[in-house]
Amino acid sequence: MSKPDNIRGHSGGVSRRHVLGASAAGMAFAATRVYANPAGDAPTTPDKAITELQDWSQALGDGVDAKPYGVPSKYEAGVVRRNVEWLTASPQSSVNFTPLHDLEGIITPNGLCFERHHGGVAEINPAKFRFMINGLVEKPMVFTIDDLKRFPRENRIFFLECAANSGMEWRGAQLNGCQFTHGMIHNVMYTGVSLKRVLEEAGLKTNAKWVMPEGGDSAAMNRSIPLFKALDDCMLAYAMNGEALRPEQGYPLRLVVPGWEGNMWVKWIRRIEVGDMPWHAREETSKYTDLMENGNARRFTWEMDAKSVITNPSPQAPIKHKKGFTVLSGVAWSGRGKVSRVDVTIDGGKNWHTARLDGPSFDKSMHRFYYEFDWNGEPLLLQSRAIDSTGYVQPTKDELRQVRGYNSIYHNNAIQTWHVKANGEVENVEIS
Ligand code: MTE
Ligand code: CO
Repeated sequence: MSKPDNIRGHSGGVSRRHVLGASAAGMAFAATRVYANPAGDAPTTPDKAITELQDWSQALGDGVDAKPYGVPSKYEAGVVRRNVEWLTASPQSSVNFTPLHDLEGIITPNGLCFERHHGGVAEINPAKFRFMINGLVEKPMVFTIDDLKRFPRENRIFFLECAANSGMEWRGAQLNGCQFTHGMIHNVMYTGVSLKRVLEEAGLKTNAKWVMPEGGDSAAMNRSIPLFKALDDCMLAYAMNGEALRPEQGYPLRLVVPGWEGNMWVKWIRRIEVGDMPWHAREETSKYTDLMENGNARRFTWEMDAKSVITNPSPQAPIKHKKGFTVLSGVAWSGRGKVSRVDVTIDGGKNWHTARLDGPSFDKSMHRFYYEFDWNGEPLLLQSRAIDSTGYVQPTKDELRQVRGYNSIYHNNAIQTWHVKANGEVENVEIS
């Protein structure tokens, strides 16, 4: 079903009866009529939003250049990253969350990309920035940002998900909002040079097996990455969504490690060492390992498994209209390829429906899905389940715990449940 032009928000939408019930000819008619309220009846009182002249039509507005760098409307002031203060001891070693419930499509605006820093944001002067390659290479090299911009460029859209995304939900439903349960993810277009191209410039020695990116921030974050990945699809990126990286995202240069856990995407990258063994850095021993039920820890769990979440309705985005035509929307992604299908249930898994995927579908990128339905006004249990191009199916929490136990933090890709109450409010619950 295509949406008629005159469907509006909950303040005065077209009723589903008029839209879905109509024949093809009737649809055309519905699209040209204006309904005053969701029941579709003729308006009985004049609508002041129409009959009265508004401020904005009575005086000239701001001229060009009032805002040399544009910002959103003041009415969108609530669309912001948010943190959960009790999660971390300091804002320098902390995380905030992307407002997924306020976003459309698949691209995260730069100013809303969640931030995860271990030692605060490094404010790097690009004139003093240097990037070095050393270790098992024929020719150790140092580059400026301008040097890197003379390599052939690539533009690629990828999601970055922190391994800890949904980590607070391992033992039960905890945080009330998809921003907090799933917001350690962003999806942007990167511009940069392929890491393979730059490594080739330095010349890999025959015993080269691993690379170690290292950050120039106070945390000097470093990880071991196997050479096969470094030569596959990794990038050194200096731009996101068409402009220079934001300081929060690693300005002037960050490593892009498509489909793999966010921790490996070293920001403010100053060095890559090439070696023949992993370094067993702090971030891959004491952190970013998964404690299993038997006390053993899984290590080097790099790939992000397929996952999805319904962003609307959700606790921060309740249903504000009454029963009737309802748009359910969400996002899905997989570190192994594309999302080939998303299933949605509104009755806690009794019946599953294939969601409608809309928008571009790229490998290791976010996908947008929709399921439009006629809400009968009764409570709902909403879930979504992603299936990726390898055939992998997103598990329930119970299924995940059978394999992983209760001690994990990282790599929680389980199915999320939202309970919609009759009054439209939504809460985080667990049912399977
Ligand atoms: N790189 C450096 N140098 N320092 C850091 O603290 N945090 C890592 C990674 N790269 C980090 C880093 C973690 S854990 C994640 S999830 C991602 O960056 C977060 O990227 P973002 O801030 O762009 O969302
Ligand atoms: Co992280």
